[in-house]
Amino acid sequence: MTIEHYKREAAARALEFVRPGMRLGLGTGSTARHFVDLLGERVRAGLDVVGVPTSEATRTQAAEAGIPLTTLDETPELDLTVDGADEIAPDLSLIKGGGGALLREKIVAAASARMIVIADHSKWVATLGRFPLPVEVVPFGLGATRQALANACKAAGCPGEIRLRMAKDGHGFVTDGGHFILDASLERIAEPAALAARLAAIPGVVEHGLFIRLASMAIIAGTDGLRIAESR
Ligand code: A5P
Repeated sequence: MTIEHYKREAAARALEFVRPGMRLGLGTGSTARHFVDLLGERVRAGLDVVGVPTSEATRTQAAEAGIPLTTLDETPELDLTVDGADEIAPDLSLIKGGGGALLREKIVAAASARMIVIADHSKWVATLGRFPLPVEVVPFGLGATRQALANACKAAGCPGEIRLRMAKDGHGFVTDGGHFILDASLERIAEPAALAARLAAIPGVVEHGLFIRLASMAIIAGTDGLRIAESR
């Protein structure tokens, strides 16, 4: 079995939680892509749902798949968001943003009654932090924001290197919102909530990739089959 097989398996299980008439948040990334693909098949077979994409990439894929789309302006409350993650801890706190869509992903997840995170087994970790934490920042004052970010991580007990994410063209990677991303290599985030509070207080930080108390269920697929973890 390949990692792609596991991702699709988790996506297929999440589809079982979709009911006719639901307003859905559609995640971003290679795992969420499987979900949108499978959802598209169901929609073309007659399932009545509407979706809010969390990125331009997902908007394009969902539109091509025939999934009716709306916005959070027209539909400010959603029933369910299904999205991937870069790391999932046992309390279902997450690191997201490896694909650069963390801002829209967090807004959509927060507007949803439920968030199901889908992943292959490599994403399940005892403690968050091995995956570099993405932090979305405004371009103005980048150097100062980077320094403040480094100080905040250190003060939260997880010092580490802060790197500007680069695009393939050699320039800074620009998000759908027109911002940059700083990736913080922290190795171990012992207290995600404390770090999240410090990051949110930095002027210039638009959003960070710590998703705390947003996911209510994780569907993990791997060599031992499918595992479902729910938040308490
Ligand atoms: C997108 O910005 C991310 O939050 C993705 O959800 C996350 O990186 C997981 O992506 P994959 O499913 O491609 O691993």
